[in-house]
Amino acid sequence: RPHLKAHVLDGLVMDDVPLVQIAQRVGTPTWVYSAATLRRRYGALRDALAEAGLRASIHFAAKANDSLAVLRVIAAEGAGADVVSEGELRAARAAGIPAGRIVFSGVGKTEREIALALEEGILQINAESAEEVERISAVASAMGRVAPVSLRINPDVDARTHAKISTGLAENKFGIAYTDAAALYARMASLPGIRPIGLAVHIGSQITEGMAGYRAAYARVAELAQALMGRGLPVERLDCGGGLGIPYRDELPPSPAALAGAIKATLGPLGLPVMLEPGRWIAGPAGVLLSSVVLQKRGQNRRFVVLDAAMNDLVRPAMYDAWHGILPLAPDLLHAPLSPADVVGPVCESGDTFTRGRALPDLPPGALVAFLDAGAYGATMSSTYNARPLAAEVLVDGHRWAVTRPRQTHEALLANQLVPDWLGATA
Ligand code: LLP
Repeated sequence: RPHLKAHVLDGLVMDDVPLVQIAQRVGTPTWVYSAATLRRRYGALRDALAEAGLRASIHFAAKANDSLAVLRVIAAEGAGADVVSEGELRAARAAGIPAGRIVFSGVGKTEREIALALEEGILQINAESAEEVERISAVASAMGRVAPVSLRINPDVDARTHAKISTGLAENKFGIAYTDAAALYARMASLPGIRPIGLAVHIGSQITEGMAGYRAAYARVAELAQALMGRGLPVERLDCGGGLGIPYRDELPPSPAALAGAIKATLGPLGLPVMLEPGRWIAGPAGVLLSSVVLQKRGQNRRFVVLDAAMNDLVRPAMYDAWHGILPLAPDLLHAPLSPADVVGPVCESGDTFTRGRALPDLPPGALVAFLDAGAYGATMSSTYNARPLAAEVLVDGHRWAVTRPRQTHEALLANQLVPDWLGATA
């Protein structure tokens, strides 16, 4: 288990800082990230790839966590980034990740985003369609540039994960059908605005059911790359995507070593450098969401623990039926008798339920809990639904900690709205 959890369970601290202290000073709900865990997990992944004898670079998927402080920690370790929007590109650059280590992915990049990426001197754009290839070439040519482009193929393999986060099936919107890829790659080589770099694949996220999907996808990439090189087309490197799962509950996801082994076995013979775009594996276990109990209420035959965090903060349970550990943050509560509880937020929908029937102690108003493994796809997926300000974010680093994003104020929530003057004065 990640050392974060051991620490939390031992002494209710993250790194060297008691979480209760952060909750008292900053209030709740608050996201807290551990710099030590981010560094340790990035390092473990890097080492596993190196030990397999791979020439590999790691490009952190900023969609998992785009906190500038988190990106900064990872950047300082030498990581690149995988971005999917102008906003993520700006965040990665602002955190000090060189453009030459950034990959731009995504199925709908605008001309403006393509132009910005080229202006910045991006490492590579992963194109997902023939239409996009033409668009990138046109934008680059107009700028007098040549865009480094990899082709994301849709390998039509089943990653065996939740349907909403599976991306490698033919029915998914992602990538170019692998049967069309060779022709499009040749077309790329003929376009003035494009330098073909290689192939990319990403079959889904939270992959826990073994390596079969990965192996099948990489085998497709290997076969295709071989065929392209056989035709004299340049292939410089291969992008293996992200997707490595983490144990939220009792899953047994493949290890980084297993992933490295699968890459080695399938793509190794080509002798090309490879790239990885992990998000969740690095950041997920490095973060918690702190929340306070507003009240406990008794339903007809259920106990509801109503928190001050809601689906607008952490949407994963509502959206994917995801399971997150919920840990009471008081040592005496750790040994109190347990009984089933539905843990819910105050938002006005039944979907605002974090878990049902979870064994938890009596949690009086004001009791603190931590949602575990909330460092990936937590804050980045937040909204202000029900006019709830975005939660605060904190980074812990050894004995030091700092607020890295103050809680959004109610004033800020209203500040960028305008009421047309023909509607009359508002106050
Ligand atoms: N590369 C590409 C092209 C991606 O689309 C993604 C994630 C990643 C890399 C990083 O995947 P990871 O290593 O984090 O699995 N919101 C969902 C997850 C959506 C993932 C989208 N793409 C969740 O909370 O489970």
